[in-house]
Amino acid sequence: MGVRRRCRREVNSRAMVVGRREEEEEWRRYLAPERFEVLAHLEPWAEAHMLPLLKPADEAWQPSDLLPDAAALGADGFHQACLDLRARAEGVLDAQLVCLVGNMVTEEALPTYQSMSNRFEATRDATGADGTAWARWIRGWSAEENRHGDVLSRYMSLSGRLDMRQVERTVHRLIASGMAMHAPASSYHGFVYVAFQERATSISHGNMARQVGAHGDASLARICGAIAADEKRHEAAYSRVVAKLFELDPDATVRAMAYIGT
Ligand SMILES: [Fe+2]
Ligand SMILES: [Fe+2]
Repeated sequence: MGVRRRCRREVNSRAMVVGRREEEEEWRRYLAPERFEVLAHLEPWAEAHMLPLLKPADEAWQPSDLLPDAAALGADGFHQACLDLRARAEGVLDAQLVCLVGNMVTEEALPTYQSMSNRFEATRDATGADGTAWARWIRGWSAEENRHGDVLSRYMSLSGRLDMRQVERTVHRLIASGMAMHAPASSYHGFVYVAFQERATSISHGNMARQVGAHGDASLARICGAIAADEKRHEAAYSRVVAKLFELDPDATVRAMAYIGT
């Protein structure tokens, strides 16, 4: 290796170390008492403006509402409903199925996302059964999200169009691998990130609903539409809290948004 190239590499790696140190210092600023005060002050606001955006269990749709239900239909009725579903699923294009697998696998990694939310200082669910508005939001949100992977997975199994063992192995690997979150303990970064992520999932499931509604299975379109509507409510909740942080602590919020956006 030439001297010049080695020098360039050393300079680059020193710059990376300095950059990493500055980044960690910036993240630590979000663990300062003033930031926690903002979030503590916001808790009654979260109770009034975020929690009402969740649907209680007996009002929310459940996967059984959208798929053949063996107990309700009886053996023959269930068998016929599954044959009908398989026949409709034949119309779903391979390219749409690939996207559906992507959406389903993303939803099925929910344990990773709940762990992520529980790493945010000041808004996490420290005991797993905390009574704070933040903790009840995390658990209520997770309960809603849990239906997404469930309903897609069941539809895919019943459709007979996919090698489910391969899909399930992918989900297994994804959850086992985990996910590194930038600024791992900062609620500010977390809320900004999730606001964008909910928007992304709403668009993705909504597009899938339109696509399979036009060229495939109307029952799958209904499933994807129901998921997209949930994601839209979640986006509204996270966007509200980000807007509130902009109001109360604009400098820290805009830096978190710039970080997540770049
Ligand atoms: Fe979801
Ligand atoms: Fe969501």
